[in-house]
Amino acid sequence: MNILVVGGGGREHALVWKIAQSEQVDKIYCAPGNPGIAELAEVVPIAVDDIDALYEFAHSKQIDLTVVGPELPLTLGIADKFRAGGLDVFGPDKAAAQLEGSKGFSKDLMRKYSIPTAAYASFADRDAAVKYIRAQGAPIVVKADGLAAGKGVILAQTEAEAIQAVDEILVQGKFGDAGQAVVVEEFLYGEEASFFAFTDGKNILPLASSQDHKQIFDADQGPNTGGMGAYSPAPVVTDALYQRIVTEVVQPTIDGMAAEGTPYQGILFVGLMIDGDNFKVLEYNARFGDPEAQPLLCRMKSDLVPVLQACARGELNVSELEWYERAAVCVVLAAGGYPGSYSKGDVISGIDAANAIDGVHVFHAGTAAQDKEIVTAGGRVLGVTGWADTIKAAIDKAYTGAAKISWNGMQMRNDIGQKALKR
Ligand code: AMP
Ligand code: GLY
Repeated sequence: MNILVVGGGGREHALVWKIAQSEQVDKIYCAPGNPGIAELAEVVPIAVDDIDALYEFAHSKQIDLTVVGPELPLTLGIADKFRAGGLDVFGPDKAAAQLEGSKGFSKDLMRKYSIPTAAYASFADRDAAVKYIRAQGAPIVVKADGLAAGKGVILAQTEAEAIQAVDEILVQGKFGDAGQAVVVEEFLYGEEASFFAFTDGKNILPLASSQDHKQIFDADQGPNTGGMGAYSPAPVVTDALYQRIVTEVVQPTIDGMAAEGTPYQGILFVGLMIDGDNFKVLEYNARFGDPEAQPLLCRMKSDLVPVLQACARGELNVSELEWYERAAVCVVLAAGGYPGSYSKGDVISGIDAANAIDGVHVFHAGTAAQDKEIVTAGGRVLGVTGWADTIKAAIDKAYTGAAKISWNGMQMRNDIGQKALKR
């Protein structure tokens, strides 16, 4: 088989790494890829949102399966275009990707199908939103309806902060089209977890549990990022909760999407807030998590390719994935200043030394090749993933690997995985 992976981050490097282990694969292409991916696949310089060029490429290279990493091409309709042209593609079409692309859409679906989520209301009108905020009181959460690069969620501690957020989104247009409506919702407390399931639109195949670390600093301090580290399995998701998440969230979501005439096919990402025996859905994403994909794929024993292909073709008939017993932990190494502005082009040293450690793999995210050196080219630069028999040993592996790597301004969290050890 010829496979095309769309994207160029740590998630896509992990996908390519796992796909490359499949005996079914002859050739892997990745657009646009990165220097780490280039060691395993032929990288092609096509941007993830250039749907027409990706389509032409897939046709010309007789690609058997296209695997879409990030949300942007999905919300632009890459899957619609490929399917209409008779090409197998892993990822939801544009209508189904609204689960991530519109908070209002996803909240309405959850309400209609009794999927547990925070109480909320949607508004396009500023005054109505303000009235609701005054009636509910603070703390309260204000979210731009559309995709806002992870910055569209405001956790307001006071009514004034919430109203300011509404003004910025609805009146001043801070997020452009993504802010034509807002969702105002109940503030939830607890511990977050990420839950993933493969689906062909009808059948589901849940993955192992995992947990991300969203804030930039240790102890969950500072602004949110794309994710500073992740691990699997996540003990906050007990076996009993795991089963309930499957039956009370994942299956009704997939059934609801089908009943609405927008069947969802690909990987469903459910962001959860867990508080003891209770859980509520924070959000859906229409794609694999990054960095969660890195530890999860390092633990997956099953061949990934037949699963992706079965989802793409609407014929998923595998009932369980096989996993290595080991735990895996990914520590993200980020550029200084991230998630604010950061410099690029700093020379990275030590990647080979980290990769030489048994049970450590370095996935590239924001890197570039320059005069035989690897330099920084993004906010999240590398993901160092370690695996071992226990979470504690996997944490040690990942940090031993991370300690080999350095560049000017590099930052990382020092407490990835500690929440698991507290349980
Ligand atoms: P979202 O993009 O909706 O997942 O929101 C981004 C982050 O904001 C989440 O990962 C949570 O950390 C936080 N968050 C979102 N909604 C709520 C809520 N209702 N209560 C508390 N925190 C929230
Ligand atoms: N790590 C969270 C995400 O991929 O959105």
